[in-house]
Amino acid sequence: MSFFEISKNVYWVGVKDWNRRMFDALIPLPRGTSYNSYLIVGEKKLLVDTVNPGFEGELKKNVDSIVGLENLDYLVMNHAEPDHAGAIPYVMGLNGKVKLLTTLKGAKMAQTYYNVPSDRINVVKGGDVLELGRKTLRFIEAPMLHWPETMFTYLQEDKILFSCDFFGAHLAEGFFDDDVEDLPVFAQKYFGEIMMPFKVMGKAALEKLKDFEVSIIAPSHGPIYKNPDKILGLYRGWVEGVTREKVVVVYVSMWGSTECMAQTISKTLLSEGVNVLEYNLSYADLGDLVKDLVDARAVVLAAPTVLNGAHPLMVYFLYLFNALRPPTKYCVILSSFGWAGGTVRQIKEAVGANLEILYVLDVNGRPNATDLANVVEAGRVLAKKVKGA
Ligand SMILES: Cc1cc2nc3c(=O)[nH]c(=O)nc-3n(C[C@H](O)[C@H](O)[C@H](O)COP(=O)(O)O)c2cc1C
Ligand SMILES: [Fe+2]
Ligand SMILES: [Fe+2]
Repeated sequence: MSFFEISKNVYWVGVKDWNRRMFDALIPLPRGTSYNSYLIVGEKKLLVDTVNPGFEGELKKNVDSIVGLENLDYLVMNHAEPDHAGAIPYVMGLNGKVKLLTTLKGAKMAQTYYNVPSDRINVVKGGDVLELGRKTLRFIEAPMLHWPETMFTYLQEDKILFSCDFFGAHLAEGFFDDDVEDLPVFAQKYFGEIMMPFKVMGKAALEKLKDFEVSIIAPSHGPIYKNPDKILGLYRGWVEGVTREKVVVVYVSMWGSTECMAQTISKTLLSEGVNVLEYNLSYADLGDLVKDLVDARAVVLAAPTVLNGAHPLMVYFLYLFNALRPPTKYCVILSSFGWAGGTVRQIKEAVGANLEILYVLDVNGRPNATDLANVVEAGRVLAKKVKGA
């Protein structure tokens, strides 16, 4: 068993998944993750979210060492994704009286994903209050963060916000924010991967939170924030799409021509005093790359032509880029082709509506001195824009 009291009669009873290395079959987890579940003990006993399938027994041991799983009165489902809701059937199977509390959309999902009978679900709305005796909960609807049913739960007496994935970070280590030196980096990665497409909803949620005094933010992945001001400040910038003087150079190259152009523009940008992050798509960690898209002002897209279009790794990246909706404003396109090309057209079609294209270079074969001078020129134009914005 492992648990700890984060506030009087409020316990973390989650699990740490040190060995998980992939999430959603998409996101690398270099330092594992945690599935935070919280037990609130008033006269009635309530569990906020559960854990990923496979860890049900661990959750039970943790809860049992405090109150006994069979004594739970309520189970809050802030979010229906299996990393938090996966143990719901297990808990409800062992405890025949526990009621599931969730939004209207959550109720539908609990039935389809977890076969929870409707008579065991109490639908809650934003503003609803639940008295546990000595502990009072309020529910805050926070839709599309990042599924339609998502909500937050607020514990009034202790001023704790249980925000589920919002404010989360994929980290197994650390109990509290102070424990992890590079927590903001992991919080930014998480925001980029999961919340960035829903900036508008994130902004609305932060607005709602102004009505609540929050002393502790207890998300469902990663450390608990005892100093919520810092993460709230970061999130305010991210949902607003505040960008920095920062350019992400994303490239792929088979025989070095495109690489030479990408590296040349990186060096030019650096010599113009612009912060550059260079990612070769053949090796790039998607989490790191997405983290940098959260606040980069521009992106350089560089790829050779393969079979009449952009290299497939660039096509994959463009798809993700558009889906994640980063606040990036400008771009430069660089390409090398052997005979007919096709990459530039494809990239333009993919990003044209979302980015201002400042410069395009499509080079036949290896870039010569004139081509590289043009790359330097493109770098200067880009630097000026990025610094002027
Ligand atoms: C598998 C493969 C497919 C290619 N298909 C095309 C093509 O359809 N049209 C074209 O203009 N060039 C094509 N090329 C040529 C490359 O675009 C060209 O060699 C380019 O200079 C490679 O740039 P890199 O050195 O950055 O890899 C192809 C090359 C390879 C290896
Ligand atoms: Fe989720
Ligand atoms: Fe999650």
